[in-house]
Amino acid sequence: MPPHWILGPGAIGRLLAHSLSPLVATTLIGRRALPEQQVLTTPEGQQRVQVLNMLTAAQLASETPNPPAFVHITTKAMAAEAALESLASVIPSTTPLVLWQNGFLAQPRISQAWPGPVLCATTTEGAYLTGDDGVVHAGRGHTFIGDLSNQHGELAETLAQTLTQAELPATAVSDIRQRLWQKLAVNAAINPLVALNGVRNGELRTAAHSPHVQSVVKEVAAIMLAEGIQPPNGGQGEQAWLALVWQVIASTANNKASMLQDVEAKRPTERGAILGPLIESAQRHKLPYGVLQALDTAIAALEAGY
Ligand SMILES: NC(=O)c1ccc[n+]([C@@H]2O[C@H](COP(=O)([O-])OP(=O)(O)OC[C@H]3O[C@@H](n4cnc5c(N)ncnc54)[C@H](OP(=O)(O)O)[C@@H]3O)[C@@H](O)[C@H]2O)c1
Repeated sequence: MPPHWILGPGAIGRLLAHSLSPLVATTLIGRRALPEQQVLTTPEGQQRVQVLNMLTAAQLASETPNPPAFVHITTKAMAAEAALESLASVIPSTTPLVLWQNGFLAQPRISQAWPGPVLCATTTEGAYLTGDDGVVHAGRGHTFIGDLSNQHGELAETLAQTLTQAELPATAVSDIRQRLWQKLAVNAAINPLVALNGVRNGELRTAAHSPHVQSVVKEVAAIMLAEGIQPPNGGQGEQAWLALVWQVIASTANNKASMLQDVEAKRPTERGAILGPLIESAQRHKLPYGVLQALDTAIAALEAGY
């Protein structure tokens, strides 16, 4: 079977590589060299050491490798296009890509620009890095896979089966656009506020923060309606979005959102992939976006001050 390439050796990339490599040939591609001996800590706390096939994009470009079955892009959203560019001369332009980013920035752009199939994955698997040779699979979840124009159902099904065999349960779906926007809507109501206030998710339930959650959801719900995104759980409009946001806040009360972790580590956040598409949509549909814009401006100012 042709190999799976994984471009972006971060938390999700290494989790994929550790999971897939016992089943299929797998190459993990970065922009800098990393140790081949890698450790995965499972959600149950067991450590598994594996030698992974690690290369840099420059090393690959100097070889003539066999074309891969899939290229998984597992960088942060704002790095996805540049990462793909670094491989563009190495892979046929018909190669299926799989985009693992949160938000809705890389997905429409790469789907439009890449001639081959572009699958999008949205996952509730949780992982974080512990250095250049370690990744912790912090929580098991589920992955949904599909393409934005719904033309590659069979390919999505093949990939979902491979991931499921690799102990990353996955389902091929025909509504990935809805799922990506729904996740983005919830992320927009939680991540920027916790990042700016330096609090864990559960703190948003306090009187100091809950009115802000409500005002974000008000703008987001109107944008979702304009984008044709169904309110969650069969509910109606703003109330359904608010109910989902409070439910996620309760079930992740002790979590530090990735945007807060990025701010604390002085890394660029994924604000452009989460707030960016909402603001762009609001402008296009002539809807209010003052609250979203203020959050984006405040996070941009934080990032500029690193
Ligand atoms: N982690 C999770 O639990 C989780 C869950 C759901 C969704 N996601 C989403 O998955 C995406 C990846 O998240 P993550 O947590 O895995 O991020 P991450 O740990 O920061 O990993 C990103 C990786 O991309 C690499 N990279 C950046 N530019 C590159 C380039 N041009 N070529 C090759 N590699 C490049 C980085 O390498 P350097 O070390 O050289 O910077 C890093 O290894 C994000 O959109 C995130 O929102 C993550």
